[in-house]
Amino acid sequence: MSKTIIFLGPPGAGKGTQSQLLKERDGFVQISTGDILREAVKSQTPLGIEAKKFMDEGKLVPDELIINLIAEKLEELENKNIIFDGFPRTVPQAEALKELLIKKGRKIDAVVLFLIPDEEVVKRLAGRRVCPNCGAVYHILYNPPKKDEICDKCGTPLIQRDDDKEEVIKRRLEVYHQQTATLIDYYKDSIVKVDATANPEEVYKTIKSVL
Ligand code: AP5
Repeated sequence: MSKTIIFLGPPGAGKGTQSQLLKERDGFVQISTGDILREAVKSQTPLGIEAKKFMDEGKLVPDELIINLIAEKLEELENKNIIFDGFPRTVPQAEALKELLIKKGRKIDAVVLFLIPDEEVVKRLAGRRVCPNCGAVYHILYNPPKKDEICDKCGTPLIQRDDDKEEVIKRRLEVYHQQTATLIDYYKDSIVKVDATANPEEVYKTIKSVL
């Protein structure tokens, strides 16, 4: 049966970085609600216009919008190994996912919990740079591009995400602790804890060993 994995953890824990590695090396499909929403914001779709208000303030986008988006995505991904990156983030989202997976004859194989202190999150997000063209993720100190502020993969100038400003990072961390961390208990029987402070290759090895 196809695998279904959830990546759970605070902003900046490395969920996107590890999803990319599992996508490139192991053929997983990444479903990142954050990436889908940013794409919708860029294209100014009705979803994007609605979501932007919440994202700019570091708040969660309403459950209903997110659940509809995931339901649509799942239709396209029969027989694929999936990583949910940054979804679910609330108990209603987790309940909705449970129903959607049952309908598709799938089950959750593991919930990988990324463990990292808040201070490290702040350092990671403040130094993050992303490619607006191909989505590659860098860090000015931990994973710099070869040429200053230019994407190694496609040569596009890198940008800083709007929500990687210090005051928004703090809000996103609060939201994680208040609204999303409750899922640690919700998924207690499927949780696998990973030390997310190790370097990306070490984190990848640990995740592979538990999948
Ligand atoms: P989203 O895009 O999901 O952001 P997030 O969860 O806050 O996660 P990030 O993308 O910030 O971090 P990450 O864990 O992927 O870290 P990364 O690998 O980039 O959500 C954005 C917004 O959209 C939310 O605030 C909300 O408004 C909305 N939203 C999204 N999903 C939603 C949902 N389900 N419900 C409601 N609203 C939703 O790494 C970070 C940095 O660290 C990078 O610079 C990277 O190079 C570096 N790094 C990574 N790993 C390592 C390592 N091991 N060592 C050193 N540096 C590392």
